[in-house]
Amino acid sequence: MLHPFSENKKRVLPEVTIQDVVFPLAKRNKYDTRNHANNNVEARNFTFKELAIATKNFKEECILGEGGFGRVYKGKLEKTGEIVAVKQLNREGKQGNGEFLVEVMMLSHLSHQHLVKLVGYCSEGDQRLLVYEYMHAGSLENHLLDLLPGKPPLDWSTRIKVALHTAQGLEYLHETNKPPIIYRDLKSSNILLDKDFNAKLSDFGLAKIGPVGDKAHVTSRVMGTVGYCAPEYQRTGRLTVKSDIYSYGVVLLELITGRRAVDLTRKTEELHLVRWAETRIKDPKKYSELVDPLLDGHYPRASLSQVLAIAAMCLSTDASVRPSISDVVAALDSLVQDPIPSK
Ligand SMILES: Nc1ncnc2c1ncn2[C@@H]1O[C@H](COP(=O)(O)OP(=O)(O)OP(=O)(O)O)[C@@H](O)[C@H]1O
Ligand SMILES: [Mg+2]
Repeated sequence: MLHPFSENKKRVLPEVTIQDVVFPLAKRNKYDTRNHANNNVEARNFTFKELAIATKNFKEECILGEGGFGRVYKGKLEKTGEIVAVKQLNREGKQGNGEFLVEVMMLSHLSHQHLVKLVGYCSEGDQRLLVYEYMHAGSLENHLLDLLPGKPPLDWSTRIKVALHTAQGLEYLHETNKPPIIYRDLKSSNILLDKDFNAKLSDFGLAKIGPVGDKAHVTSRVMGTVGYCAPEYQRTGRLTVKSDIYSYGVVLLELITGRRAVDLTRKTEELHLVRWAETRIKDPKKYSELVDPLLDGHYPRASLSQVLAIAAMCLSTDASVRPSISDVVAALDSLVQDPIPSK
């Protein structure tokens, strides 16, 4: 089992408190997502044939990626010309039709600018497919951790924007919805980007409707993904919104460092990102060691220490001292509002 912080250290306390980095809520800017109208339309019920046509019969060239639940294909809906992403769930271990449909209906009623929209579904025979809005730039993982040669790395301000949008998507799930929805599987592959690098959360709720216990992709579906999982959740299985905050802290560290939550190609002491970052995050003289070398020094120092302070608070071993997601949104919002000159 991977423990992010050793047990004798109760938590990581940064030198800056959340109050130092949180701006008054009144100063929220154009990224504000509160009080948005729920403008989602109910998910459409597609026939298997429609989705087969859309994906050229699930042709290999249409594959966008593959995760623990199955393959994702790019498709074009014949009737409307709409470009979509079609996720074909693995057949083994699927839940019954009823549960699948209840979940789909629930998801189709969640609507927010930072959640990937569920366009529809198909549950014909033993097929289970989900149809999502197509996200042009793919996942954050593609741009941060699996960067293809010759592709430009994400610059600092885009990283902050992605962090803010991700927090705003979580804020909607945690705070706008009553009772709150716990995302459970926050990680860079579940943060998708549109052509302008606006970020949206995907797969919210999918942990419930997909097959359970996939062995190859994640250690345990119930436990989320190794490396992102809050220590108390890993120990006890007890899930709260604060488990999501911990995973959010790991994503923030990935955005800062360009390193994977768990990278088996690195040497032992660097294998686990949170553990590697733990000592550095407490020493301002070591902050620069944490920064993604691909940024080539192009980041505002003050912004870095504020984002590190937020990450450290989110990663507190004691779940009760982790900030709420709206505190995180307010803190990041202030960084977007008052960009500090680079270098
Ligand atoms: N709506 C979408 N638009 C564009 N690309 C997508 C979309 N959904 C998924 N993808 C691509 O497909 C890949 C696989 O997604 P998928 O959610 O199946 O797996 P994952 O996120 O890597 O793992 P997990 O199954 O644990 O969520 C993503 O990393 C992304 O590149
Ligand atoms: Mg996913």
